[in-house]
Amino acid sequence: MRIGMLTSGGDCQSLNATMRGVAKALYEMYEDVEIIGFEEGYKGLIYADYRMMTPKDFGGILTEGGTILGTSRQPFKLMRVPDENGLDKVEAMKQTYRKLRLNCLVVLGGNGSQKTANLLREEGLNVIGLPKTIDNDLWGTDQTFGFESAVNIATAAIDSIHTTAASHGRIFIVEVMGHKVGHLTLHAGIAGGADIILIPEIPYDIEKVAEAVKKRSRAGHRFSIIACAEGAVPQDEAGMKKKELKEKRKNEPVYPSVAYKIGAQLEALCGQEVRVTVPGHTQRGGSPCPFDRVLSTRLGVSAAEMISRGEFGYMVSIVHNEITKTPLQDVAGKLKTVDPDGSLVKEARLLGISFGD
Ligand code: F6P
Repeated sequence: MRIGMLTSGGDCQSLNATMRGVAKALYEMYEDVEIIGFEEGYKGLIYADYRMMTPKDFGGILTEGGTILGTSRQPFKLMRVPDENGLDKVEAMKQTYRKLRLNCLVVLGGNGSQKTANLLREEGLNVIGLPKTIDNDLWGTDQTFGFESAVNIATAAIDSIHTTAASHGRIFIVEVMGHKVGHLTLHAGIAGGADIILIPEIPYDIEKVAEAVKKRSRAGHRFSIIACAEGAVPQDEAGMKKKELKEKRKNEPVYPSVAYKIGAQLEALCGQEVRVTVPGHTQRGGSPCPFDRVLSTRLGVSAAEMISRGEFGYMVSIVHNEITKTPLQDVAGKLKTVDPDGSLVKEARLLGISFGD
């Protein structure tokens, strides 16, 4: 039994814990299993950059963030485009797989990586996907590993801001990761007691955001905390194509990110000092939280079980707390976004949280 493994796309806290789960279970099941680790994601598979792993490699990594294999972003849309030397990447990956006589390739990755996993499945390789991302935006699974750890970090950032915001009576904007989806911002915002939550799925009106701040001031609160996703979008830009957006913004001031833009607008509209905090990549760093360690272990062990049963072409997923599997073709190209009419948003609204709409 020979298994290839790679970690692809942006990292997260629980990649090593997941690989450990796969490896430990495989070593338990087979006496003669060999695991080949590809360096830096699909790059390693394309350019045959790999190493033979041993059980020792998977020891002591349950609590270690990052990835022992390294990772890189290899955009799906460029997979069919030859590299600078004219190399056909898909053919190269197939060749590496066949040359190494792999029985299966295990891919730990997010949306783009699962699309490539599905492409390799279509090309006839045995592939199993494992759902990684702090964004929790993979279709077919209730939760991805990495999400809960990131929620903890983003929440801790909001928690820390509370005391200083209260001392100075300022508006604070904490910019949380998530360009396309707002699960992380929504969860951290609720957990951190944010007053306003801005997510890509609910475009905001800056006047309404300002009104929510003023309402708090009228009620005697000296400060307001806004949890704002990287991809929060104003109503007048919602649904715009990249080109249209570029045209619209041509004569507008340029800000490092959306939180700074909102900050400048609120300062003018509310006459109150604003500060922006961007925890950025700290949200992907450090040790996985216990929840993620358990989830990763369960998903990893289940991947090993699927290998032993010869069930390929699936992403291992968790639905209603049961580990299950979703066909890669169903996962590929779909995003799991926040439902603006879902219960979590409704409950947050009932609590008085404004979504700026
Ligand atoms: O996909 C995970 C993620 O952390 C997003 O939340 C974020 O927008 C993006 O990756 C950042 O990417 P990079 O690490 O390439 O800057």
